[in-house]
Amino acid sequence: MNRDDFPILDGTLIYFDNGATTLKPREMVKATDDYYLKYTANAHRGDYDNSLKVDIAYETTREKVRKFIHAGKMSEIIFTCGTTDSLNLMVFGYFRQILKKGDEVLLTKSEHASNILPWFELEDELGIVVKYIDLDDDYKVTLDALKKVVTEKTKVISIAHITNVVGDIRPIKEITKYAHERGIYVACDGSQSVAHMPVDVRELDVDFFAFSAHKMCGPTGIGVLYGKEKYLNNMKPVRYGGGMNASFLPDGTRVYDDIPTLFEAGTQNIAGVIGFGATLDYLNKIGMENIQKYERELRSYAIKKLREVPGMILYNEKSESGIITFNMKDIFAQDLAIYLNKYHICVRAGNHCAKILKDELKIKNTCRMSLYFYNTKEEIDRMVEVLKNPNIKREII
Ligand code: ALA
Repeated sequence: MNRDDFPILDGTLIYFDNGATTLKPREMVKATDDYYLKYTANAHRGDYDNSLKVDIAYETTREKVRKFIHAGKMSEIIFTCGTTDSLNLMVFGYFRQILKKGDEVLLTKSEHASNILPWFELEDELGIVVKYIDLDDDYKVTLDALKKVVTEKTKVISIAHITNVVGDIRPIKEITKYAHERGIYVACDGSQSVAHMPVDVRELDVDFFAFSAHKMCGPTGIGVLYGKEKYLNNMKPVRYGGGMNASFLPDGTRVYDDIPTLFEAGTQNIAGVIGFGATLDYLNKIGMENIQKYERELRSYAIKKLREVPGMILYNEKSESGIITFNMKDIFAQDLAIYLNKYHICVRAGNHCAKILKDELKIKNTCRMSLYFYNTKEEIDRMVEVLKNPNIKREII
């Protein structure tokens, strides 16, 4: 779908690394170019025409994000540098203030580093306890497994909506219902979901939701932390400076802005925000339901074809997203990725920043193909053809 919008696809490139970052459509690049070339100005600071234009573009994007994830209020949308930044802000800005020694935070072993390491830091700092929800035989999270680890001390469940290696879609709505009945917060890493399916944060009833623009056809260096207003009002900034204060005096008296600008100190990634706005328009034109439907078809097709490859080991056949993780018998994952690169096929190999998932998968390194709407069955056929090469091992050595 829509391949013509991506000049990078004009040649021989086959890009299956969309979980790492997606390709960028012309419309997004044009929006950032226009800002840089035609109306550069800082945001929220100037009194001239271009600065007003920038303010409008910046805040219009905030409103577009609100609508895209169906948040209730624009003030619940904070621009960050990306998912990692969003999760760090949430952990150190909010949970550091409210958690105490002995409080338990539930994660899974398939979380990305950015949803584990900040919690480890808080564990050292406050004495909270990080625990893991067991995954089932298909590496999925079930409500039953969650119930087994929840105790009276459980205060937070922090998990991905879709994980970046196994690609399972978590039952977030059921989890929030169960958690909220017990006064437990649910924080959700949406970086692998929001670009691939319709997301409604109010329907999911998540307390926090983090994601990055660059994984959804947008620019790098810009992301979002959504939080329920009642929680954001009690969150502390982790950065202080211009753009987030109303006044300050020599004796240290100061008045800070309200949410969301309270959390946006310093000159923001304005081009990123504006490009992100164009990205959201672009995705809305295609339609998130259409993207999800098409990706599902591609996934089923890819699984069927990959099964035909001799020596193929598939780790997540039962997942529902466009993420397919595999190895080939007796071939090191990174060698396989380098081999595929010879044919201009991009996949990611390694542990994919999910470094404790090896406890579950029983293998440290895998290859991951991650699909998006501009991928095609023909591209999958080409990868399968290249993987079926009877001389593959000789070519790799
Ligand atoms: N989190 C990104 C990935 O999974 C970088 O590849």
